[in-house]
Amino acid sequence: MKLILFGMPGVGKGTQAKILSQKHGAIHVSTGDMLRSNIQNGTPLGAMAKGYMDKGELVPDNLIIAMIEEILSSAKAKKGYVLDGFPRTVPQAQALETILWRANVPLDKAINIVVDEEEVVRRLSGRMTCPNCGAIYHKYNQPPKVENTCDHCGHVGLVQRHDDKEETVRHRLEVYHQNTEPVLEFYRKKGVIVDVDGAKPVEEVTASIEAIIQNGKV
Ligand code: AP5
Repeated sequence: MKLILFGMPGVGKGTQAKILSQKHGAIHVSTGDMLRSNIQNGTPLGAMAKGYMDKGELVPDNLIIAMIEEILSSAKAKKGYVLDGFPRTVPQAQALETILWRANVPLDKAINIVVDEEEVVRRLSGRMTCPNCGAIYHKYNQPPKVENTCDHCGHVGLVQRHDDKEETVRHRLEVYHQNTEPVLEFYRKKGVIVDVDGAKPVEEVTASIEAIIQNGKV
């Protein structure tokens, strides 16, 4: 499976990417998670990225592209990949073409997860993540089995992301419309994009994506 998951912030890209990559033995490549891990580990890249991320702005293309090139050129990518949060600008999409060609791991399909903007704001304001393993929850839609405790690794103390405050979420949506929507057009022209209704429950969204895969489109 060699897949891109697209969509506005909060449509469920991370949730679906974790399920699909695990099920299909592909690597989950989340630029957001990679950047947050750099911030947590105090790396120079993390220090450069933090200001942009806290404001809901995009991190400069050259930093992101270098990070992606390293992982997609590794042997792990040969088994498959699910890209989550990349590419987000047309220059990133153009760079990705070259990276995939050089590494000989061509893209199968891009899935555009579609959810209404107000639902996205509601989802992000209730999102909680595990700072230890990155598992994603929602206060009401997907609460952990035991309050404030990760189902996957048992870590106590789920956290809200800094950029999930309503004001920052609304700015992230503006940035999406301005910079990332043109990327959809880039892939539509290539005929590799399929829209999926992301407003359905998590399992149903996964089933819709799996149906596309099973129909031989991926
Ligand atoms: P990133 O971490 O990529 O954030 P994002 O794209 O804004 O997306 P999110 O992680 O917020 O949402 P998601 O679609 O993954 O939804 P999730 O599954 O968590 O990027 C953060 C920042 O990093 C950017 O602003 C930028 O600064 C920087 N960055 C990253 N990549 C970059 C790049 N390529 N270039 C430049 N800068 C970059 O779900 C959300 C919530 O909804 C959860 O609570 C979940 O439980 C719930 N939920 C999920 N699915 C459903 C469902 N079907 N029904 C009900 N609830 C659901």
